[in-house]
Amino acid sequence: MTRSLTLPRPDDWHLHLRDGAMLDGIAPESARHFARAIIMPNLVPPVVTGAQAAAYRDRIRAVAGPDFTPLMTLYLTESTDPADVVAAHRDGIITAVKLYPAGATTNSASGVRDFDRVRGVLDAMAEAGIPLLTHGEVTDPEIDIFDREAVFIDRVLDPIRRATPGLRVVMEHITTSDAIAYVNSQPDGLGATITTHHLVINRNHILVGGIRPHYYCLPVAKRESHRQALVGAATSGDARFFLGTDSAPHADDAKESACGCAGCFTATNTMSILAQVFEDAGALDKLEAFVARNGPGFYRLPVNSATITLEKTDNPVTYPDRIDTGAGPVTVFDPGFPLYWQVAQAG
Ligand code: NCD
Ligand code: ZN
Repeated sequence: MTRSLTLPRPDDWHLHLRDGAMLDGIAPESARHFARAIIMPNLVPPVVTGAQAAAYRDRIRAVAGPDFTPLMTLYLTESTDPADVVAAHRDGIITAVKLYPAGATTNSASGVRDFDRVRGVLDAMAEAGIPLLTHGEVTDPEIDIFDREAVFIDRVLDPIRRATPGLRVVMEHITTSDAIAYVNSQPDGLGATITTHHLVINRNHILVGGIRPHYYCLPVAKRESHRQALVGAATSGDARFFLGTDSAPHADDAKESACGCAGCFTATNTMSILAQVFEDAGALDKLEAFVARNGPGFYRLPVNSATITLEKTDNPVTYPDRIDTGAGPVTVFDPGFPLYWQVAQAG
């Protein structure tokens, strides 16, 4: 039985670090284990220009230290200037651009309503080789929340890919077998991130026996068969699927509320959970591809030379229930089962 696993240091290809006191409190939770992360731009106000991305990058670096590289993104709006996007990418300030349909999730009010209005930016991105990262849910009130990812593929994503075939796209935080099937149907230029929590919970975990606000995130977890399909994709070794935790902290009082915020905070115990999930699936040998190789492959970046070592423990791993930040306590995601893999060394 494998008792110790040394991998290239992992990367997180979808992370919310927030700003101010929350950033100060939670950035170390990611920097402890991860070498790089794609940083989501949905601050209030959002990160929409290259100059704002550079300033935000510097605030992150000041907190997270020299061993953690934030890879910045811009928040696509209908008034995004293609020239600013291309210049920010050329100058090494941004790695990608994030598409939020307006109103789809936390802080997405400035997102896109009319996809034709961003056509020029998408063409310029395709030309410059800048990936588009999609929050893949429609916001049409007629569409059931559990169907919004599948409908997004048909109504938005596939038309974008047909109109701009050279554009490289990442479907972020996929939650359905429909998304997996779509990735598999495409010849190239399409990847997908999968979160830690969507490998663990299905919609029953949120709703059965009482409502569990700390399991509520967007896209909302789907039925068990979808979770199993996600585990299958993540543990397959297929280079198109890679880790994006979507670790998304909210202070507990904003989660435990009559109208609780969407987001699961998994940065603290993600590596222990993933090792457990992969071991339980009989696929520990595929963990390296998912957390450390497939993402750099898609983004055309080198695999990290630093390593991380995970060790199997006899007693369950302990981790804090919540992280105290200057913006309030943030509950750490509870996978609902004991974890027996501990990060022994990162660096
Ligand atoms: C994210 C957040 O809190 O910023 N929430 C979430 O449920 N995942 C936004 C997002 O990625 O949708
Ligand atoms: Zn997110």
